[in-house]
Amino acid sequence: MNKVVSSFVPATGFDIFLPWYDLAVRLLARQTRMHENVSRIVSQRLQKLRFETSEESSGVHVVDVGCGSGTLLAGMRQRDDLNLTGIDVDARMLQQAKQKPGTDSINWIAAPSWETTLPAASAQVVTCTLLMHHLDDESKSRTLSEAFRISVPGGAIVLADFAHPASWLAWLRFQAVRVVDGRLNTAANLDGRLPEMLGAAGWQKVEEEFVLATPLGTVRGYTATKMSA
Ligand SMILES: C[S@@+](CC[C@H](N)C(=O)[O-])C[C@H]1O[C@@H](n2cnc3c(N)ncnc32)[C@H](O)[C@@H]1O
Repeated sequence: MNKVVSSFVPATGFDIFLPWYDLAVRLLARQTRMHENVSRIVSQRLQKLRFETSEESSGVHVVDVGCGSGTLLAGMRQRDDLNLTGIDVDARMLQQAKQKPGTDSINWIAAPSWETTLPAASAQVVTCTLLMHHLDDESKSRTLSEAFRISVPGGAIVLADFAHPASWLAWLRFQAVRVVDGRLNTAANLDGRLPEMLGAAGWQKVEEEFVLATPLGTVRGYTATKMSA
């Protein structure tokens, strides 16, 4: 097993369930709907960036941090105007990603989310879905700072994760995630602190874009911008 950091919370909480990750996340976290929302927002952001900077589309780079089995990027692969990079600490998840059809052209990197190995100012959009609740507060902050570092000025982050529950039932359902992924890792999500953590990492114009009720609690999608100097 090729682990690039000594310990991390695997995609399914426990290693034994990793082969069933895609099915589990589709059923329990409404991954398809979440990724549709994220992809739509990525397209809007890229369009806005092109409009504002008349940037050549061939140079557009989208980086998915904590990409897991690569489903989000696999869904974007038909857009040949995008360079796509997926980062995940778990080589087993990248192996699953590489087995998805048409993903040969995607650059898969085994690295921790806070040390992507990518150059500064090299990504137009960074996406990050369902990673935050795997990380303690310090790792969350370092990851959001790293995303900020690799983003071009004017670039954006699109982040979706379990967040402040919309109801007591959503709170109750999220307790299962807390047991599996850890109370410390999930505390900032539960307390609704992801937007303030984005701000602390330098991101501006933090906005909530969508709210999704899932069998495991409330998922919220946020965007934020790296303002040009
Ligand atoms: C719940 S999965 C989400 C995967 C994918 N983004 C999605 O939407 O389905 C969380 C992923 O984060 C990865 N992960 C956990 N800690 C990480 C870290 N420190 N750096 C990079 N990836 C990490 C896990 O290996 C796992 O693939």
